[in-house]
Amino acid sequence: MARDVVIFDTTLRDGEQAPGNTMTPEEKLQVARQLDALSVDVIEAGFPAASAGDYRGVQEIAAQVRRPVLAALARCTDKDIDLAGEALRPAARGRIHVFISTSDIHLQYKLKIGRDDCLELARAAVRRARRYTDDVEFSAEDASRTDLEYLCRVVEAAIEEGATTVNLPDTVGFALPAEYEQIFRAVRERVPGAAGITLSAHCHDDLGLAVANSLAAIAAGAGQVECTVNGIGERAGNAALEEIVMASHVRPQVAAFRCNVETRELYRTSRLLSHVTGVFPQPNKAIVGRNAFAHEAGIHQHGVMQNGLTYEIMRPETVGVPHSRLVLGKHSGRHALERRYHDLGYELEEGALERLYHKFIALADKKREILDEDILALLHDGFQDAPEQFQLTHLRVVCGTVGGAAAVRMTGPWSGERAAEAKGDGPIAATFAAVSEIVGQPIEVGNLAVQSVTPGRDSLGQVSLQARVNGKSLSGHGASTDIVEACARALVNALNKAHFAERLEADSLNSVYLWGV
Ligand code: KIV
Ligand code: ZN
Repeated sequence: MARDVVIFDTTLRDGEQAPGNTMTPEEKLQVARQLDALSVDVIEAGFPAASAGDYRGVQEIAAQVRRPVLAALARCTDKDIDLAGEALRPAARGRIHVFISTSDIHLQYKLKIGRDDCLELARAAVRRARRYTDDVEFSAEDASRTDLEYLCRVVEAAIEEGATTVNLPDTVGFALPAEYEQIFRAVRERVPGAAGITLSAHCHDDLGLAVANSLAAIAAGAGQVECTVNGIGERAGNAALEEIVMASHVRPQVAAFRCNVETRELYRTSRLLSHVTGVFPQPNKAIVGRNAFAHEAGIHQHGVMQNGLTYEIMRPETVGVPHSRLVLGKHSGRHALERRYHDLGYELEEGALERLYHKFIALADKKREILDEDILALLHDGFQDAPEQFQLTHLRVVCGTVGGAAAVRMTGPWSGERAAEAKGDGPIAATFAAVSEIVGQPIEVGNLAVQSVTPGRDSLGQVSLQARVNGKSLSGHGASTDIVEACARALVNALNKAHFAERLEADSLNSVYLWGV
């Protein structure tokens, strides 16, 4: 009989901590809403003591996302725990997650305390967290490199103080599956009270074993797994949520656990996260990579056409990968577009349909076939969360072997249009220089990624980048059949977010709002 396993998503905390994955509180809320639609059991919304932005993100998600349990991370200090407790106050069901390192190497070099002190700090932290909520998780950071006898003592102490979940992380991705499994078996056998709480696995992917280790822990009795969408996270990342979930779906007899995740939302969640962070999974990434369901070899294609199961262990639609099919053309009306978004699971807010319809018609003029992927790209192009204060009205570029030049015109928070011409190493650099001249500010651009949305020469190019404007680092997204234009649109999107952020800061009494890195 398969056991139920709690899916604890830490995309917004451990995932977001990794360089390049920084999200604004608004973006975190957007991802949290999608994690709710995905039906994860617990969302770790952030680390309130880390920054004012993290605090606000947790508070906002706690107020608006009501179904899942919401967790907030805290070190074993009174201040951290109190901030976590406060940030979670609006939550329907809040969990404080306290952690402290227990391995000798961390105790000696990082915390500079002895084992007994660490044990006392763990006890006091769990006790204090219980003042705020009955749902307290304790993590023994670097558990997989901790002396087993000592680890059992710390776990026992945490349980005595009221921890209801105890997490044994493989913090540095060091364990092999058989070893990690053994730690869970030992803790279950040796710690009085372990049977009455949930043991949790939390694996990093430094040896590419995070998912394998998570499955091994489940086999040894773990009742919760901590994971992230697309496997994002510190260094090589965390265990990928979609891989763990699909292992239980595809191999129910062997994996022998169930979870509540709505698998048809997996692809959509992955895409949303990539659009928000500007970081796309590698093409061969399991489940959500661009090639995960592509069959290139003729012999494979033939087999799949006869029967999908010849080379596919799961159907793309099971994880929500949209079919590449012709949906609309330039004669389609607003209603047809709205209907198509509805069928793809998106209800458009007022105003959004009109804006998208204009973009759709412009695209239909340039591109013969409009596929589902195209209209999803239009939806994500420039995330309509910030008002479009800046708009690109004209772009002309020259490129070749001797560098590039660009002429740009834009509207903005000034009257009429402003124009600038600039040169650069290539047309994209020249365009960015012209935009920077128009807005009268230096702009640094990094992490620029171009993806083609659909196959074919007239495919939409989708660009994500990170722009540093006025000390704020923001992601920007843009799509066009012309990639230089897509780059310009992505930059303008980032400018709109920066402008919006400044307005929010000015409106806020407590203007310690932190945007990105
Ligand atoms: O990897 C780790 O040990 C962590 C803890 C804070 C749970 O992320
Ligand atoms: Zn971690």
